[in-house]
Amino acid sequence: MRIRPYEPRDRADVVDICIRTGDNGQDATGLHSSDALLADIYALPYVNHEPGLAFVVDNGERAVGYILGAADTRAFAEWFSSEWWPTVAGKYSSDGELERSIIASAENPERMLIAAVDEYPAHLHIDLLPEAQGQGLGRQLIETMAAALAERGIPGLHLVVGSGNTNAQAFYRRVGFTELASDAGGIAMGIKLA
Ligand SMILES: CC(C)(COP(=O)(O)OP(=O)(O)OC[C@H]1O[C@@H](n2cnc3c(N)ncnc32)[C@H](O)[C@@H]1OP(=O)(O)O)[C@@H](O)C(=O)NCCC(=O)NCCS
Repeated sequence: MRIRPYEPRDRADVVDICIRTGDNGQDATGLHSSDALLADIYALPYVNHEPGLAFVVDNGERAVGYILGAADTRAFAEWFSSEWWPTVAGKYSSDGELERSIIASAENPERMLIAAVDEYPAHLHIDLLPEAQGQGLGRQLIETMAAALAERGIPGLHLVVGSGNTNAQAFYRRVGFTELASDAGGIAMGIKLA
């Protein structure tokens, strides 16, 4: 397994990883009326907007994990609502309760603006398939992202983790993140960059 920059050929793997880890770290296949919904919100916009801040774990055959980032969350939220979401929103209907809440959150870019966004302007998403978990690759991906952001002079990095995803919360604490805020949408955690 090795970490390398994202390449366009990884796109389908990124979608697959997003779906298979999208239910608080567990497989979300079949949970929504369209499996593509989660990736259209939480994965593909990132590789479109800032492919230079996307890294994958390659098992020699395919990508089995990724870390995706936005260096400037305010700018990303603006781009997401004005340019990205309008191009994909038509694919989805708000039939089920789960879809409604996910789509409502996609339609509200303010959701990305945590109170401490100016201190921690960058944010990330990280997901590894089960075969890649528990081997130190998550820590290495965080270090790779932190180094790429620090090189650009970004002072801080944050993420929002579901309140039910206690494994990921423990992981983030272990690799240096501290809790910034929490609400029904999850827990915001941040780390300062050198
Ligand atoms: C959460 C996730 C990214 C962690 O990556 P990982 O490669 O499994 O974690 P690592 O092996 O790099 O662990 C790094 C450190 O965190 C610790 N850690 C990881 N998971 C932990 C857990 N559930 N409880 C306590 N500590 C944990 C490890 O012991 C390790 O400590 P050390 O480096 O001091 O020895 C990965 O398991 C994953 O993708 N899970 C499913 C998707 C998900 O939940 N994504 C996050 C959505 S917000």
